[in-house]
Amino acid sequence: MRDAVGAVQSVLVLGGGSEIAQAIVDRLVGGRCRTVVLGARDITALSPVAARWQAAGATVDSFAFDALDPASHQAAVDAAFDAHGDIDMAIIAFGVLGDQATFDADPVAAADAARANYVGAVSASLAVASRFRTQGHGTLLVLSSVAGVRARADNYVYGSTKAGLDAFAQGLGDALVGTGSRVVVVRPGFVHGRMTEGMQPAPFATTPDKVADAVVAGLAKGREVIWAPAVLAPVFTVMRNLPRGVWRRVSAR
Ligand SMILES: NC(=O)c1ccc[n+]([C@@H]2O[C@H](COP(=O)([O-])OP(=O)(O)OC[C@H]3O[C@@H](n4cnc5c(N)ncnc54)[C@H](OP(=O)(O)O)[C@@H]3O)[C@@H](O)[C@H]2O)c1
Repeated sequence: MRDAVGAVQSVLVLGGGSEIAQAIVDRLVGGRCRTVVLGARDITALSPVAARWQAAGATVDSFAFDALDPASHQAAVDAAFDAHGDIDMAIIAFGVLGDQATFDADPVAAADAARANYVGAVSASLAVASRFRTQGHGTLLVLSSVAGVRARADNYVYGSTKAGLDAFAQGLGDALVGTGSRVVVVRPGFVHGRMTEGMQPAPFATTPDKVADAVVAGLAKGREVIWAPAVLAPVFTVMRNLPRGVWRRVSAR
């Protein structure tokens, strides 16, 4: 349960290896968060980050979680909530960027990206939402992307998965009004890191730490949508309304 000043004391991360999520958890643990629960495909890889948060005074637990196995999500989320009693915040952090040329040549790979980024996020979010409804509070932080605001020709599979996720998260947030729970949609632009390694940075490229700073600031202000960096909000308001032919030219890399 959030403490008397509203600080997050417990967080569940689905996609615990995410650099962006880990930067957010760094800040939560630097505050009053004392319980971190991580769901990930490879929990052994999380040992160094778990040790860091334990050294800072947090209890860290982890469990196997695969976005591609939605049938397992409710039981995995229930086990995490049951083991820790109460979770203030859950972060839907998993995602795959993939490569459009690969997707064009391999429809099954494209479908797998859609299953992880969208289908898996739907089942995982609904599993969390049912527990938030029961406990009467909770913030679901969903890592969407500006790529979902308007699909680009060179990554439209990924962009479409984020468009679906973003719409789903907004709808879930509206559905949760009155339950004490809420959804916060985070829309980062290009973030330097493992996911974008070797890629040409897009304008307004940022870092996991800066995204995490924007998330913490946005949460403090009660925002339902957080753009990172903030300038992407007006930029993409323009971009989404450009005539199609103009968008094709400006979005080509
Ligand atoms: N980086 C960017 O430029 C950027 C921009 C906008 C939005 N985002 C979104 O922000 C989120 C976090 O990205 P990030 O930059 O932190 O990238 P990241 O460090 O690569 O994290 C992505 C995580 O997703 C996990 N994952 C992938 N498929 C999974 C599956 N089937 N089951 C469980 N976990 C799975 C990965 O697990 P493993 O550790 O096992 O590989 C990895 O830990 C993603 O949703 C991404 O789409 C990123």
